[in-house]
Amino acid sequence: MKVITIANNKGGVGKTMQCYQLSTYLASKGHKVLAIDLDSQGNLSSTLGVNVQRTLVPEWLIGDIESEEVIMPTQGKESFYDNMWIIPSSRHMANLSKLLILSESEVRKNAGRKERLLKHRLKQITQEFDYVCIDTPPVLGDELIMSIVASDLILIPTQAQDYSIDGLEELLDTFEIIKDSENPGLEFAIIPSMVMKRRRIEQNRLDELAQSFNVTPPIRNLVDMQESISLKKPIHLMGRSSEGRKDFESVWESLGL
Ligand SMILES: Nc1ncnc2c1ncn2[C@@H]1O[C@H](COP(=O)(O)OP(=O)(O)OP(=O)(O)O)[C@@H](O)[C@H]1O
Ligand SMILES: [Mg+2]
Repeated sequence: MKVITIANNKGGVGKTMQCYQLSTYLASKGHKVLAIDLDSQGNLSSTLGVNVQRTLVPEWLIGDIESEEVIMPTQGKESFYDNMWIIPSSRHMANLSKLLILSESEVRKNAGRKERLLKHRLKQITQEFDYVCIDTPPVLGDELIMSIVASDLILIPTQAQDYSIDGLEELLDTFEIIKDSENPGLEFAIIPSMVMKRRRIEQNRLDELAQSFNVTPPIRNLVDMQESISLKKPIHLMGRSSEGRKDFESVWESLGL
């Protein structure tokens, strides 16, 4: 089972978009995929056809309920949805930090430290899925840190036009600390997101980034992408001439997925 987290502590950079496209693509290739929505906005959950009144993620993480109680089938017309499940979110995710404090002794008994809770939970279902794709909120909080500890690969959508080196540095510092202390096999790649290629300044920033980091081909800012979300139609189902589909296929190919 390979665990992939889509992360950026900056908001609105295309995390949920990339998590949706990647998870549906992997399922369409015949893999068994578990999507996990850790963002209280619940956008990934609703795009995959699952809306819950109250997420059980906090209770699941601390071990009050079993995995079967939080994993739900995704809903969609195509047959690949049969290979795909989701742990949905809702605004009650906001209870997580509170519950972690209240359950300190349980957390210690189960996972040792709260950062390891998600990893500990996923270990119990490793035989059941080929891929886990995690969508995270735009904050460097418990959800994101737990996901980095539990992952094999972190994908970082980054917007070139307001590429904030400070924001990215904070995330990459956290990545390095977790890699050194908890997860030596961890890797990451930056995915340029919502790129407007004709802007020279964007291209220059991407070239600069690529000198220091593993950067994939870019995902452009395209109408295709917004249509894909509003129609709940994954980009890989668009026609061969779809520019959005071509962009995502190049990214997946570069990542060997
Ligand atoms: N490549 C793209 N081209 C055009 N629109 C895009 C693209 N990627 C994302 N969008 C749109 O931009 C908006 C923000 O994208 P998305 O919700 O994926 O960002 P996010 O990083 O998950 O945001 P948040 O931090 O709030 O969770 C959405 O309306 C989405 O449909
Ligand atoms: Mg999002």
